[in-house]
Amino acid sequence: MKIVLTGATGFLGAEVLAELLRFESIRVTACGRDRERLAALEDRFAHRAEKLSLQQSDLQDPSPVQGHVDVIVHAAAVRAPACTHPDTLVDTNVEGTRRLLEWGRDAGCARFVFVSTQAVYGTEGAPWSESSPVCPVTPYAISKRDAEELVLGTEGLESVVLRLARLYGVAPGVRWSELPGRVAQAVGRGEPLVVYGTGEQRFDLLHVRDAVRAVSSAALRPLPTDKIIYNVGGGRSHSINEFYQQVAELAQAYGLPPAVIRRDSAHPDGAHRHLELNVEKIRRELGWTPGFSLREGIEEYISYVAQKRLM
Ligand SMILES: NC(=O)c1ccc[n+]([C@@H]2O[C@H](COP(=O)([O-])OP(=O)(O)OC[C@H]3O[C@@H](n4cnc5c(N)ncnc54)[C@H](OP(=O)(O)O)[C@@H]3O)[C@@H](O)[C@H]2O)c1
Repeated sequence: MKIVLTGATGFLGAEVLAELLRFESIRVTACGRDRERLAALEDRFAHRAEKLSLQQSDLQDPSPVQGHVDVIVHAAAVRAPACTHPDTLVDTNVEGTRRLLEWGRDAGCARFVFVSTQAVYGTEGAPWSESSPVCPVTPYAISKRDAEELVLGTEGLESVVLRLARLYGVAPGVRWSELPGRVAQAVGRGEPLVVYGTGEQRFDLLHVRDAVRAVSSAALRPLPTDKIIYNVGGGRSHSINEFYQQVAELAQAYGLPPAVIRRDSAHPDGAHRHLELNVEKIRRELGWTPGFSLREGIEEYISYVAQKRLM
């Protein structure tokens, strides 16, 4: 089976590549733009070189391979904070997807897996199921919604849209500036953890290796219909209070400075913010279920920070 993977140089894409290369019968063409990141993939997967072709390819003109391809996994995208310009978001996330779909059709692609986001649901009405109304509010979310429509509207191929919750997990490419990494590093430095408002804002975190299993199932398993959307989340939401409590307990267990939780009630509350995906559909239809608990996920960050302190 021949698979083309876009976004292979990204946080998620590199882990998806690692998973796909485990299957003996699969050959992967892994695409990215950045030469250094492509070289890093070449080193990392040197032991799988016979199954892997690395391709420098831009969604401006995607034609990653010659000849037939069975499945396209489209994980490439731009998003904030790296990119906030609406024109770039549209050109990459929407028009780039359109160009890739056209190329895939000519290459005889049978299945197109599109990595989308929970952001298409907006900010109200969680927990969301796949039948919840979409209401994207940011230019990024709008671009992903528009790309979803292109993917689902393309005749003649199986289309799977995966709406992912916020990714986390310690792996190459992890953004230490995002919540779990930022908080773990703050604890490591002995800095206080600040709770804004009540701390009852709820969010959904998806471990990157759980996301990888969902992508691989969507790419390889039989599907119940040829146009399908699946939510992929952590299985439940967590409040900031709960999150910090786990961080504090794990910091103690790993001998980091005691975590000081400071409340800043003057800051806008955000208490009504609730992001959460209902994942029953993918559980039922593909047998996928989240494997990481929040505690296990946070422990990866805390143990990493604790090891670095000892080095
Ligand atoms: N991270 C999250 O929390 C999250 C949550 C929900 C959904 N998602 C979705 O999951 C997917 C992967 O996210 P990620 O966090 O792994 O992203 P990432 O680390 O920022 O990686 C983005 C990837 O897209 C590639 N890319 C960007 N612009 C491109 C272009 N014009 N042509 C070709 N490739 C291009 C990048 O290539 P180079 O690096 O080589 O330039 C990189 O491989 C995205 O579709 C994102 O929308 C992410």
